[in-house]
Amino acid sequence: MSNANPFGAQGWTPERMSSHEGKTYVITGANAGAGYEAARLLAWHGAEIIMASRNPTKVDTAITAIKNEVGSDAKLTRIDLDLASLKSVRAAAEQILAKVPQIDGLVCNAAIAQVAKQELTEDGFESQLGVNHYGHFLLCGLLYERVKASKGRIVVVGSMGYQMGTKRIPFEDMNWDGKYNPMNAYCASKLAQMMFAYELQRRVQAVGDDIEVHVCHPGAARTELSKEEANLVTKILFKIMSPLAQSAEKGSWPEALCLNEDGLQPGRFYGPTQRANMVGIIGETDLQDHALDQEVAARLWALSEEQTGLAWSP
Ligand SMILES: NC(=O)c1ccc[n+]([C@@H]2O[C@H](COP(=O)([O-])OP(=O)(O)OC[C@H]3O[C@@H](n4cnc5c(N)ncnc54)[C@H](OP(=O)(O)O)[C@@H]3O)[C@@H](O)[C@H]2O)c1
Repeated sequence: MSNANPFGAQGWTPERMSSHEGKTYVITGANAGAGYEAARLLAWHGAEIIMASRNPTKVDTAITAIKNEVGSDAKLTRIDLDLASLKSVRAAAEQILAKVPQIDGLVCNAAIAQVAKQELTEDGFESQLGVNHYGHFLLCGLLYERVKASKGRIVVVGSMGYQMGTKRIPFEDMNWDGKYNPMNAYCASKLAQMMFAYELQRRVQAVGDDIEVHVCHPGAARTELSKEEANLVTKILFKIMSPLAQSAEKGSWPEALCLNEDGLQPGRFYGPTQRANMVGIIGETDLQDHALDQEVAARLWALSEEQTGLAWSP
């Protein structure tokens, strides 16, 4: 990676955005935090947004807020999606495919983090792994052909947490039955999402499909993440550190970058580049080798197919 910021000395900002009129984006977790801000930014630029999240009231409130700002003709649709349920993911994918003929971008943004105690999804997955990785793996697989037909993009929102915790996929104990730790489980789930995305990039390249896959992260952003599910110590720590973080709006910029820019390369990671890549100028972030380990990624892909019941090989 060269030291020069590919988006100029000030890094990527929404001023670089072109019109997104006529484009349709599906954003998971679009009612809050970085996902909400990305939806808002794209709506300002004319895009149609499918806001896929688990709480209908919150999504409707978010849609009203964006329409109040952007205009009543802003194209925003709610789709109910609970990533903690494979059944719900399948139903949501069906509704999305019935609703929109074209998907120019699918943004895997939703997440839960630092869940205090081990919890299992209805399908029996540790909750962060289930919501953040398996739910999105299935959604991406079910929407892949439509994104491909639209010559669109899949954007996976990762985290600098991929290089924290144990820095590995715990194949011997994916549910952390042995020794559950909120931080380790969250970091492994974000690493899984990123390894999946880089594996998808490689598969897309190998078969020559006309689709782009990009990976980004918001740095440290003041959002709703961990506000409910974390333990007391983590909540206090996040509150103390909150003034050091950047706004949720700025946290959304890497997502918009990945949908907006032409010429992005595979194997890259986009996000803030200052103070340990937690805040500041948006550009390319260094990526540690373990995220690109092809053997581990192939094993994770096979396991994800098995666990979600989706045979998927682009
Ligand atoms: N904020 C940070 O500092 C930070 C740092 C690194 C990475 N990230 C990543 O950035 C992304 C956005 O997070 P954020 O900080 O904006 O968090 P946030 O404000 O908590 O927003 C998360 C969104 O995901 C939704 N969600 C959670 N569980 C879901 C489920 N089972 N099914 C469907 N939707 C679900 C939430 O819905 P509800 O409103 O109903 O809960 C909410 O809309 C995540 O991928 C996160 O891992 C954030």
